[in-house]
Amino acid sequence: MDLFEYQARDIFAKHDVPVLAGEVIDTPEAARAVTERLGGRAVVKAQVKVGGRGKAGGVKLASDPQDAVDKAGAILGMDIKGHTVHKVMLAQTADIAEEYYVSFLLDRTNRTFLAMASVEGGVEIEEVAATNPEALAKIAVDPIDGVTEAKAREIVEAAKFPADIADQVVFTLQKLWDVFIKEDALLVEVNPLVKTGDGKIIALDGKVSLDANAEFRQPGHAELEDKAAANPLEAAAKAKGLNYVKLDDGNVGIIGNGAGLVMSTLDVVAYAGEAHGGAKPANFLDIGGGASAEVMANGLEIILGDPDVKSVFVNVFGGITACDAVANGIVQALDLLAGKGEEVTKPLVVRLDGNNAELGRQILTDANHPLVEQVDTMDGAADRAAELAAK
Ligand SMILES: Nc1ncnc2c1ncn2[C@@H]1O[C@H](COP(=O)(O)OP(=O)(O)O)[C@@H](O)[C@H]1O
Ligand SMILES: [Mg+2]
Repeated sequence: MDLFEYQARDIFAKHDVPVLAGEVIDTPEAARAVTERLGGRAVVKAQVKVGGRGKAGGVKLASDPQDAVDKAGAILGMDIKGHTVHKVMLAQTADIAEEYYVSFLLDRTNRTFLAMASVEGGVEIEEVAATNPEALAKIAVDPIDGVTEAKAREIVEAAKFPADIADQVVFTLQKLWDVFIKEDALLVEVNPLVKTGDGKIIALDGKVSLDANAEFRQPGHAELEDKAAANPLEAAAKAKGLNYVKLDDGNVGIIGNGAGLVMSTLDVVAYAGEAHGGAKPANFLDIGGGASAEVMANGLEIILGDPDVKSVFVNVFGGITACDAVANGIVQALDLLAGKGEEVTKPLVVRLDGNNAELGRQILTDANHPLVEQVDTMDGAADRAAELAAK
């Protein structure tokens, strides 16, 4: 989960990383009082989860409270790389002497953590890495030892930070490492880390990405989620403990059991769709192991709730969950939905194979639901689902 800059700023402050005061608002007029509180001047910063806000006109200096109201009015509602600005942060202004770059991240290739630092921060760091790679120091961080003072000094020396601020950067790196470890982050990036005119080090912009797998031990992280941006069906699926993912530009709903089968189902449907006007998967849902009628009903409800879906492909390979249980689940799910006044109106193509497939198919044949069709092979079923979606 990526955080907004203001959320990163709050987390930095909690772990003693030096930051400037700031407040978030969502109406222009609110900028007046905040700017007064901040001392009469402020930097108005678009809060969107994308970099390069400055270049896009989303970071502006306001010289007085009225100017802050005007600039907030101009930035709120702005589109930055496809992200609409709903909130702006007003921050204290920094007197910037120099801009640096520091980050900690998970280096999957080398199976370690990595620190990156450069005294050429501020601009796009990707550009520095590409055109002047020796200006970006990369130091592996042992996950057990972490960023000790000695490790922080090694980073500071490798990136050639000036001697007058070396101690402050060492301190800040250790605090940023606290953020990285204690908050279970996958990325902590500060660009720019600035040196002010009076020689202070401050994190002026922050990017933090939290590890969703650590949610169970980070109860405070749930409230950092941007609920307004979450897809309502994904939220409903999550609430029911289902793994549902929405895809772009598709029209076939996919339900399967097991991540591997679901992934290959997406491929065969996309392939089959080429012969049917480009029909493609609209979403997918993994019902996992125990596909009870209730799980099936919940899954179908979510898949059918997606207005892009024109047909549904239920692809199940019976293993521990036998196909007869899945078939019963489908029949009961259709009844359950009809009982709730959510009668299924879109065609379902079902392919059952594996444990008790014969029995499962017989149950569906006996139920004789007008919108349920059975196809014995995965390719054949994908083709039929794509054909129905294209109709
Ligand atoms: N509080 C601030 N005071 C002064 N200048 C700032 C402040 N915040 C940002 N800036 C300037 O704006 C530039 C871009 O802001 P930043 O927060 O890094 O956004 P982005 O990386 O999305 O462009 C910074 O490199 C810095 O020069
Ligand atoms: Mg930045």
